[in-house]
Amino acid sequence: GFDGIELHAANGYLINQFLDSESNARTDNYGGSLENRLRFLKEVTEAVSAEIGADRVGVRLAPLTTLNGTVDANPEQTYLAAAKLLGELNVTYLHIAEADWDDAPLMPDNFKQRLRDAFPNTLIYAGKYDGDRARAALKAGWADMIGFGRPFVANPDLPDRLRHGYPWAPHDPATLFGGAEQGLIDYPVYQSSTEPQPA
Ligand SMILES: Cc1cc2nc3c(=O)[nH]c(=O)nc-3n(C[C@H](O)[C@H](O)[C@H](O)COP(=O)(O)O)c2cc1C
Repeated sequence: GFDGIELHAANGYLINQFLDSESNARTDNYGGSLENRLRFLKEVTEAVSAEIGADRVGVRLAPLTTLNGTVDANPEQTYLAAAKLLGELNVTYLHIAEADWDDAPLMPDNFKQRLRDAFPNTLIYAGKYDGDRARAALKAGWADMIGFGRPFVANPDLPDRLRHGYPWAPHDPATLFGGAEQGLIDYPVYQSSTEPQPA
């Protein structure tokens, strides 16, 4: 019953390890030149698209994060080429993990504009967005959609808070990756003391 599949080519996982120059130590057709480093991404995308259609395939990329040693010597060159390739393969969306955790750099505006120019279909960004940053990215045209991670954990009613400009509750980093339900499903929805109360 899924509508599609997101290929995870970000955050230091397998496809990301092929893409980045400093994590790919191969000496065969899958390492060395940019074309070779893109080959695994290309073949996996083509294989999945052949099964379910490219219109049901999205791809997640992380140009500047360095998780699990995925460092690239020239990320703009590598990821603009990846975006162009994925546009030619006509995948339905590209999902950019911009800054995964607090130490990852935000992408320069010029890089985002060049990615926009390189990829014709839906572009999604995620990483440290708040309402103002999200609206600015949509307005500039860099992004068609914005993903929220940690804010959604602490704000189950995040769309309502965005819509009405309500403040956001902070998340507790200590409970994000372990324990039981505490810190994951027990954050309350927004309660304003000034909101009209039902009679
Ligand atoms: C609890 C938790 C688990 C996550 N697990 C994954 C994961 O398995 N794979 C992934 O690519 N990103 C994962 N992320 C990262 C998010 O997809 C997102 O990129 C990140 O939280 C940055 O967005 P934010 O600043 O809106 O939180 C996770 C984030 C959180 C908070």
